[in-house]
Amino acid sequence: MIKKGIILAGGLGSRMSPITKSVNKQLLPIYDKPLIYYPLSVLMLAGIKEVLIIVNRGQVSQFKKILKNGENFGIKIQYKEQKQPNGLPEAFIIGEKFIDKNGVALILGDNFFYAQSLTKTLQNATKLKNGAKVFLHPVSNPKLYGIASIKNKKIVSLKEKPTSTNSNLAVTGLYFFDKNVVSISKTLKPSKRKELEIIDLLNIYRKKNRLSAEFLGRGGAWLDAGSIDDYYDTTSFVSAIQKRQGFKIACLEEIALTKKWINKNTLKESIKFYGNCDYSKYLRRLLF
Ligand code: DAU
Repeated sequence: MIKKGIILAGGLGSRMSPITKSVNKQLLPIYDKPLIYYPLSVLMLAGIKEVLIIVNRGQVSQFKKILKNGENFGIKIQYKEQKQPNGLPEAFIIGEKFIDKNGVALILGDNFFYAQSLTKTLQNATKLKNGAKVFLHPVSNPKLYGIASIKNKKIVSLKEKPTSTNSNLAVTGLYFFDKNVVSISKTLKPSKRKELEIIDLLNIYRKKNRLSAEFLGRGGAWLDAGSIDDYYDTTSFVSAIQKRQGFKIACLEEIALTKKWINKNTLKESIKFYGNCDYSKYLRRLLF
């Protein structure tokens, strides 16, 4: 059972400059909470309680200010720095000591997931024993993502940002790997854009017949809040759903309370910490 997860929350955020010149993208708000709450909620929904957050050099204290050591969410958060954005698989090299024999999940700090039965799909993924698992979602602009071609529900090819492709299935920024991911990542060579590529890593697993895929169909939403337009689309999506339903998406304390990882006293501490705001009002409702 995979019990640990990494959030890769570094990067230059260059597509969102000048907004990201002085603030890490993952600390910007998606409607009423920082972007990082959303990928963290995905790991928590998967049942993962040990989290490593990888951030840019000098930024740990900013993340600690809001997430601390995870205690308020009933989880354990550690932090590590990435010197520069050398590519997604570097997460496994930086996280070598954190990763145990059961393997690890990786989620990109700017990825947003919302779907019926997502929790069940995630919990099933943690049962992975050997190999790697990815989550595919249809997109209208395949040139922007890692793209998988499928035959008989199996991935037959994977390409990073293909200039032309017949497939519209993006490889989303959520991955589950067995423990071998560390040693395999160390064998990767930087690509033309001078980064270690997650698609190269996944292709190694695919060629060994050790890559499986889950399909997040049209009934769910996956967004990558990495560009200005996608960022604002994600904010609009969260705002529309929350206002309609009266439930918050990615309320970390609510997930922790439901899972009995925290009690109501811890919740009261969070309310005090956040102060008088809409988010606290929502938490207060959970006390009764
Ligand atoms: O969002 C899904 C896509 O993410 C996948 O379909 C692609 O296969 C994958 O390569 C990746 O593509 P992007 O072009 O969106 O990756 P980006 O460079 O924007 O980085 C994604 C997040 O990871 C972002 O929040 C910054 C962070 N990051 C990125 C790199 C390269 C790091 O923290 N360190 C890094 O070295």
